[in-house]
Amino acid sequence: MEQQVFKKPTLQESTAANKLAWEAVVVHHKKSQSERISQRILEKRFTDFLDDDSLLELQRIDVKGKRIIQLCCNNGRETLAILAMGASRAVGVDLTEGFILQGKEIAFEANLPLELICSSVYDLPESLNNSFDLVYISIGALGWLQDLNRFFAICRNLLVDGGKMVINEQHPICAVLFDEDKSVEYAPVIQGSYFTEEPYFGADSLDYYVGTEYNAPEYHWYHHRLDQIITSALVAGFAIETFRESPQDIANSFEHYASLPCKLPLSYLLTLNC
Ligand SMILES: C[S@@+](CC[C@H](N)C(=O)[O-])C[C@H]1O[C@@H](n2cnc3c(N)ncnc32)[C@H](O)[C@@H]1O
Repeated sequence: MEQQVFKKPTLQESTAANKLAWEAVVVHHKKSQSERISQRILEKRFTDFLDDDSLLELQRIDVKGKRIIQLCCNNGRETLAILAMGASRAVGVDLTEGFILQGKEIAFEANLPLELICSSVYDLPESLNNSFDLVYISIGALGWLQDLNRFFAICRNLLVDGGKMVINEQHPICAVLFDEDKSVEYAPVIQGSYFTEEPYFGADSLDYYVGTEYNAPEYHWYHHRLDQIITSALVAGFAIETFRESPQDIANSFEHYASLPCKLPLSYLLTLNC
């Protein structure tokens, strides 16, 4: 019998698959979130779009007067929050047309000059290089990006010398936590290898707000270990400014671990400079 050889998808194949997978969730995200987003805009509660760790770090860095770019920004609501905090220029980049269109509606509603670009981070025009003081990425971005070294090199190129990059992400250990039983007494079970180099092909719901079930196209997700993330950043020419692991569940999917007496690192905040 012929042996099946696993062929890793190319970056283009993974990006194309992920675009289809994310376009399919736009309508569901809008359905559950639009009203809440409009309410916050109406009440000018823009910083509510940022979680506490991001907000504190962005306040510490002081974004006032800075040119910022958020990669994998989804509908740009966090980018909008940073603009409302006083950034002089705020650009959001996302692969998914539906999210970018929603972001444009949100910016119109808020009457703020948010710039949005529909593009893969790997295809950004070189004209954006050397144009920003801060690159920001938040929860659920890195796993869609197959090539970390290339990603961090792109981020470095977007920044002027002295610029910073803030990453507020889910901790990679979460990829191997098995969370069927959500009772507080439950001890977490490890499933899968933290050291896997294989992509994960999923076809479950990407609606991380309310978990709507729909006919979901297959997505490609890449597990990156913390040492790989940090090494790629250093190789691209960044230095570490602050690095904090946190038991906070910023992914909205591990609340039960966050409430265990024995804490696990569920998220981290990494600020780089160059
Ligand atoms: C988990 S979402 C979220 C991010 C954001 N932190 C939020 O809370 O809304 C991941 C986003 O990454 C985008 N994405 C995936 N691959 C991308 C790529 N290659 N370039 C740019 N955006 C990408 C998806 O379209 C999606 O909006």
